[in-house]
Amino acid sequence: MKKVCVVGLGYIGLPTSAIFAKAGIEVVGVDVSERVINLLNKGEIHIEEVGLPELIKEVVADGRLKGSVTPEKADAFIIAVPTPIHEDNSANVDYVISATKAILPYLEKGNVVIVESTIPPRTMDDVVAPIIKEHGLDPYKDVYLAHCPERVLPGRILIELIENTRIIGGVTPEASSKAAEVYRTVVTGDILETEAVTAEMSKLMENTFRDVNIALANELVKISAKLGVNAHDVIELANRHPRVNLHQPGPGVGGHCLAVDPYFIVEKAVEESPLIQTARTINNSMPEFVVEQVSRLTCELEAPKLAVFGLTYKGNIDDVRESPALDIAQMLVDDQRFNVSVYDPHVRDEQVPFTLDSFEDAVNGAHLVVILADHNEFKELDLKKLKAHMKTPVVFDTKNCSPLGEEVLTYRIGDLTNLKAIQE
Ligand SMILES: NC(=O)c1ccc[n+]([C@@H]2O[C@H](COP(=O)([O-])OP(=O)(O)OC[C@H]3O[C@@H](n4cnc5c(N)ncnc54)[C@H](O)[C@@H]3O)[C@@H](O)[C@H]2O)c1
Repeated sequence: MKKVCVVGLGYIGLPTSAIFAKAGIEVVGVDVSERVINLLNKGEIHIEEVGLPELIKEVVADGRLKGSVTPEKADAFIIAVPTPIHEDNSANVDYVISATKAILPYLEKGNVVIVESTIPPRTMDDVVAPIIKEHGLDPYKDVYLAHCPERVLPGRILIELIENTRIIGGVTPEASSKAAEVYRTVVTGDILETEAVTAEMSKLMENTFRDVNIALANELVKISAKLGVNAHDVIELANRHPRVNLHQPGPGVGGHCLAVDPYFIVEKAVEESPLIQTARTINNSMPEFVVEQVSRLTCELEAPKLAVFGLTYKGNIDDVRESPALDIAQMLVDDQRFNVSVYDPHVRDEQVPFTLDSFEDAVNGAHLVVILADHNEFKELDLKKLKAHMKTPVVFDTKNCSPLGEEVLTYRIGDLTNLKAIQE
């Protein structure tokens, strides 16, 4: 394989382009955003990911990766465009459709077409293949179509793209084998060949497994709050059982994967998926639960000042998509009772609908710090500094990540037994 065309240069497509280029393959990266392309051709990127700025700079300078708003002929096409949900939680595969249509003029017999975007079951056969057929190529003979889902962890993408086990779901066995060849040029992990629909379903069940298990931990938090139990202790002790792995609770589930993918299954099998639907409902209820606890903590204060720490859906990243932390911050900002400052060292003002503050401005005179993301900065909080700046040094930690110390009274989400309203 000499040349790859990657369509969609986000958190997945950009690092994928970079690792193929690093392996000596000519790569053209395509995106509808001119800003993304202009930056890329200067050797710069628009997202935060460990090691990526340096790698992109290197492969663009070497001429192995270039950006373009239109695709080019290539041996393999890799589609990594967004697959969000509509307002009604149904899958929006419009970007996959338009990306597939965009490559048609450049597609030739013998090419490999890989969709890396997470897609509902049967999308390769029912959506992608018919577009190629309509163009005049047989999607089961002339080209090799496969779904190769991504399971990388933001912050470790460049490592995991190479080391993770890959599932390769071809629409035919030949398609699986041709797509596997593409990945063998860069992947050192296992490469498992299967059918397209099995690959689609496997990816969705991976994330659904996690969503359902987080819902169980979040339900435990609510039960524990009612019964006066410390959920963190329960989880720690129960997990000493050799076959139990209770997940960690939190302020809800976010991101474009865990909070979205279960709906792709529900849409295709609504009657058969009550557990998956209930898990979504429980996780979606957590922002409200967090706001309720903030209200309980501040009910005796006249003008409570809150410092909200963290807006991303997980720690040490800059991604706020579907973030429950963002919903919680918005609910608190909208509540006239609160004076809210928001601090997130990983997020830029233009990503969010309110102004971000510095650490000092956020905590100065605050009655309560509400931690919503487990960034390293919050794991290493300087409690003495907090005490010095805050009016009442109290922390509500929904991620169970901050240090504990006598300078600050910390309530963790799973341990609300002794919660007392803050006094001025
Ligand atoms: N980010 C992750 O950690 C992750 C992990 C596993 C799976 N996925 C899946 O991978 C897919 C891509 O996710 P992402 O996080 O990279 O998305 P992203 O939003 O970061 O990037 C997508 C890019 O595609 C571009 N785009 C949209 N339509 C296009 C088109 N028709 N032609 C060319 N470019 C187009 C956008 O401008 C954007 O730059 C999604 O289906 C997602 O669910 C993501």
